[in-house]
Amino acid sequence: MIGAGTMGQGIAQVFAASGSRVTLIDVSAEATERGRAAIDTALRRSVERKRLDADERERTLGRLTTSTSMEGAADAGLVIEAVFEDLDAKLSVFDALAPVLSPSALLVSNTSSLSITRLGAATPFPDRVAGLHFFNPVPVLPLVEIVRGLATSDETVEALRAIAGSIGKTGVVVRDSPGFVVNRILIPMINEAITCLDHGVAGRNDIDATMRLGASHPMGPLQLADLIGLDVCLDIMATLHRDLGEDRYRPSPLLRQMVAARRLGRKTGRGFYDYPAD
Ligand SMILES: NC(=O)c1ccc[n+]([C@@H]2O[C@H](COP(=O)([O-])OP(=O)(O)OC[C@H]3O[C@@H](n4cnc5c(N)ncnc54)[C@H](O)[C@@H]3O)[C@@H](O)[C@H]2O)c1
Repeated sequence: MIGAGTMGQGIAQVFAASGSRVTLIDVSAEATERGRAAIDTALRRSVERKRLDADERERTLGRLTTSTSMEGAADAGLVIEAVFEDLDAKLSVFDALAPVLSPSALLVSNTSSLSITRLGAATPFPDRVAGLHFFNPVPVLPLVEIVRGLATSDETVEALRAIAGSIGKTGVVVRDSPGFVVNRILIPMINEAITCLDHGVAGRNDIDATMRLGASHPMGPLQLADLIGLDVCLDIMATLHRDLGEDRYRPSPLLRQMVAARRLGRKTGRGFYDYPAD
């Protein structure tokens, strides 16, 4: 597992809990230790809530090792990259991995928006490169999008489908296309809710209530935008607009303003709602 941040932690936890040996790799020992500690805390909470027994927690932690070198991926059958959402950062990881990996290893990226075809083309084995797009929080959400790049082989897709099943996830195969499926549907819906607010169609609470009560969504789109982070929503909207080229994907001016004002949602304490520090 390359990258021990929010997603790397969740993905590493899920694989270790389902019996795989996992090496968590990041740029510094501090980062890998932070990742390991977060997994430890998550497992401890599961034991407290009686969702996991204490022995299983020990066994899961026992399957987890950490490394600050790509050599740590040398024996892996599956290498998952979840570093920053930046093409150059991901390409440099792919470059460093290529000479190290075993000839049958699959190399997948958890990218939310970058082209899998582009990442695959940077390796000598694009047939074994795909997207494996998990959702946050990884231990809770059962979906994984299996993203097929132009050169991804059928064998790779089928192997990933089996791997998704083996960790209790449902894998859905999608073509390499901006936003894949979930974000292409979800983020424009959030953008439209922001446009409704901007145009005075209804107030904040009422917009959220309509979608909770009228469409059975567990939370309203403005609440969800605050949870995801308005900067992340804007990045994805801007990618859809740029890569699909249609006006309907134009980010809402109010969304742009909120990001410019650093009202990014829960993480900055203020978005469409306020989140007092306590
Ligand atoms: N956070 C989400 O909700 C979410 C959901 C789906 C997909 N994603 C995608 O997952 C990926 C990771 O997102 P995140 O939220 O976990 O990010 P994050 O910022 O929490 O973690 C990224 C980690 O990558 C590490 N890293 C950076 N460069 C590295 C390198 N060269 N080698 C090893 N480690 C390196 C960083 O030190 C950091 O620990 C991104 O591509 C993001 O788009 C995120």
